[in-house]
Amino acid sequence: MSAYEVLKYRPEHKARIAELQCDLWSSDPALNAAILEWRYERNPYLDDIPIYLATSHGRIVAMRGFYGGRWEAGIPRQENLVYCADDLVIAPEHRNRGVFTLIMKAAFDDLQASGDGIVLTLSGGMTTVLGSLAMGWKSIGQTLPTRLLSNRTRLLQLIRSYGAEVPVARQAVRWLPDRGRPERFTRLDSVGATRPSGGRVWLAREPQAQAMAELIERLGTDGRIRHVRDAKYFAWRFANPMNEYRFLYAGADRLTGYLVLRRCISDRFDTSAVYVSDWEGENVAIKRDLLRAAIDWGGFSELMAWTATAARETVQILLEAGFPEAVRSPRGIPCILVKPYGTTASAGTWTMAGKSVLDPSNWDLRMLYSMQG
Ligand SMILES: CC(C)(COP(=O)(O)OP(=O)(O)OC[C@H]1O[C@@H](n2cnc3c(N)ncnc32)[C@H](O)[C@@H]1OP(=O)(O)O)[C@@H](O)C(=O)NCCC(=O)NCCS
Repeated sequence: MSAYEVLKYRPEHKARIAELQCDLWSSDPALNAAILEWRYERNPYLDDIPIYLATSHGRIVAMRGFYGGRWEAGIPRQENLVYCADDLVIAPEHRNRGVFTLIMKAAFDDLQASGDGIVLTLSGGMTTVLGSLAMGWKSIGQTLPTRLLSNRTRLLQLIRSYGAEVPVARQAVRWLPDRGRPERFTRLDSVGATRPSGGRVWLAREPQAQAMAELIERLGTDGRIRHVRDAKYFAWRFANPMNEYRFLYAGADRLTGYLVLRRCISDRFDTSAVYVSDWEGENVAIKRDLLRAAIDWGGFSELMAWTATAARETVQILLEAGFPEAVRSPRGIPCILVKPYGTTASAGTWTMAGKSVLDPSNWDLRMLYSMQG
């Protein structure tokens, strides 16, 4: 008999999960409880809370959550509920005992009973990815991040790598900070224009969920698999208590583009980098103006964007702005993983709206959909 039992989340488990998540989400149980409430209790796509917990002698020692999303594909669009597996944490004294596999088996048995579809993993770390591949998940491909570093960050990295090679310098460079200063959008907020004037880009702290959704609707779809970006989604997505967002908008009476910047406030993650969560525009010039404003106003020590499924002209704008070409990691991470359940799993090919989910060219993947965005 296994030393562990798997059960499904009930509200009385919240405090223990908030404690357990001090190893992943943040060191602050109050923030962790807020993240749980936001991601699972206020999830707009599921009434159920599919968080699976492993217990040992009645005590919760591990969790993995499956939050809901509404994804679309094809022309005309077909929408599907898609689960996203995330938030894996195992208490230190219970690691290396097969708990991950145990939880995942129980979770898939439960999902199987509820219907069919696919589960995604958008932000898996090394162990999660290896464990998942061992259980039959498949990689759709790497996210291919690219980073624009400030001169100060580049200099720091140079000195660090030089110091690591030279014995006399090794001691000295140990005192250099690993990363840049925590980013708080201070420069962006003081420099950025906050009113639309003459069609120029402007900055806001709040999402214009409705206007952003209308822009997405106007731009249409190329039929690739992507999350539904309607007003409901935007309003929920940007309420993530782990992050702070800024919104660069183009257009006045009617939005013609937007670029969303995210910074993380949790002490368990990198707080010095800023992430391009989502980025849209009616044309290349608008997208270029938005990125230019973000770089000039923000003066960020590190600005990161995903490039894997971005359009060629979007990658070109990034390169022109000084981002380096994204490099494929030999370890294959970070990547997006997929696993079907129910009849989708038994079908010969795993598809959504008739499109193979294993073909990276069928996806329009944005950081926004993952916990990095
Ligand atoms: C990440 C974390 C959950 C891993 O816990 P763990 O107990 O070491 O994980 P497991 O030993 O169960 O490993 C998971 C699976 O990965 C696979 N795996 C792990 N390392 C592997 C390796 N080097 N090669 C091949 N497979 C490997 C195994 O299949 C294993 O399953 P099994 O034990 O049933 O054989 C744990 O370290 C943790 O909670 N860390 C803090 C939070 C965190 O970082 N979460 C991950 C967020 S992405």
